[in-house]
Amino acid sequence: MLNLLIISDEAKELYTLFRSVRFTQHDSKQKDSSLERKSVNLGKYDLAFLDLDTENWQQRLLELRQQMPVIAFSGPDIEMAVEAMKLGASDFLVKPLTSEILSDVIDKHKKKILTHKYGFDEIIGTSALMQKVFGLIKKAAVSESTVLITGESGTGKEPVARAIHKWGPRKDQPFMTINCSAIPDTLLESELFGFEKGAFTGANYTKKGLLELANGGTVFFDEIGDVHPLFQAKVLRVLQEGEIMRIGGSHQIKVDVRIISATNKDLTVACKKGTFRDDLYYRLNVINIHLPPLRDRMEDVPLLVDHFIRKHASKRKDMLIKGITEDALNPLMNYSYPGNVRELENMIERAISFTNSPEILSSDLPSYLLQSPAPKRSSTTRLKGELAIIERELIWSALQESQGNISKAAASLGIFRQQLQRKIKNLKIAT
Ligand SMILES: Nc1ncnc2c1ncn2[C@@H]1O[C@H](COP(=O)(O)OP(=O)(O)O)[C@@H](O)[C@H]1O
Ligand SMILES: [Mg+2]
Repeated sequence: MLNLLIISDEAKELYTLFRSVRFTQHDSKQKDSSLERKSVNLGKYDLAFLDLDTENWQQRLLELRQQMPVIAFSGPDIEMAVEAMKLGASDFLVKPLTSEILSDVIDKHKKKILTHKYGFDEIIGTSALMQKVFGLIKKAAVSESTVLITGESGTGKEPVARAIHKWGPRKDQPFMTINCSAIPDTLLESELFGFEKGAFTGANYTKKGLLELANGGTVFFDEIGDVHPLFQAKVLRVLQEGEIMRIGGSHQIKVDVRIISATNKDLTVACKKGTFRDDLYYRLNVINIHLPPLRDRMEDVPLLVDHFIRKHASKRKDMLIKGITEDALNPLMNYSYPGNVRELENMIERAISFTNSPEILSSDLPSYLLQSPAPKRSSTTRLKGELAIIERELIWSALQESQGNISKAAASLGIFRQQLQRKIKNLKIAT
């Protein structure tokens, strides 16, 4: 439910209209809805409707729009409309307002409002830990320093990188991602630096690399912890010199890019082991944003579930999935999420495609979730059952990390592909 603030001399009549669109939660104590009444707590409203026939509307608009989007409305007066938009109104409606017009404009703003209310941009979370992250994103956005985003797999490092770009001065310039773990070292270099025609067999044309294409914008090095030391040296050079050379090229090209990188590895350990250059580490880690694992901010789970239901509901053409039952939310609140938010998103996406009910049921969730032990383990629990649960969590987590790639998951678990396949079948893990 959205809380709407209505400011108009005709507020009384308008309330009836707003109630007919069922969105308004009109505060009955507040009779004249005027901002002069200091008691009006603006923080609790999501959207304001401002009648431009009220006195001092310009000043009110300026005050209000700091707190929420403002929809201005008046008679058909183009100049006034232009002025209102200039002062920061989000929309302009012509009187007389009707319930259709109101529904449309509220719908239009609803999604934006909800994501801002419950998170930052596309990143959902109201927990104190996430609020801290949002604060860091805002700070990082306005600075030009490099940012290293750390955190377990599936904690949302990429959306954070995008938000930093989007809220900074480079927002209208390109944002380019290079996934360092998905591309073999040899290709990584040509992807990033490009090549000249004839540089190697098969280079039949000149190709610009990502760093050149992103000029003026941001380059996001995802999984930077996985790259080879030789490649690290090349990245370091870009950071130090602000120049690149295409493979087979003969001259340096100036590039102006902001570098954001992410890793799920502890790079300080990699530096100690000598697999990651510490000079590069210091260059990349000017601002560090650490994303907490989902199990440390379980209060965000219901919001995330809601968000993912809305996000994926359109995949069902035959039925509108509206929510989740208490019964199904319970096991989701008692799980440790080794694969973090991505794991939760996958579960919801899968439940949406499987369910036969407009509300997700507990039977639509993966079976291992329902068997997951309660926090207090009984001493009579049999070892075999316990081990199977742990095994299932580890396998599921490895599969999340490898994005379903069985060979990769097997490698990270230290077992053979065939062994993993057998376990997946025996443990009935959905892939
Ligand atoms: N806080 C969040 N709010 C909404 N979606 C999220 C959040 N965190 C992660 N996600 C979702 O999970 C996906 C996985 O995140 P990703 O950035 O790939 O994780 P990783 O940290 O492994 O790079 C994202 O694409 C996004 O859809
Ligand atoms: Mg990632």
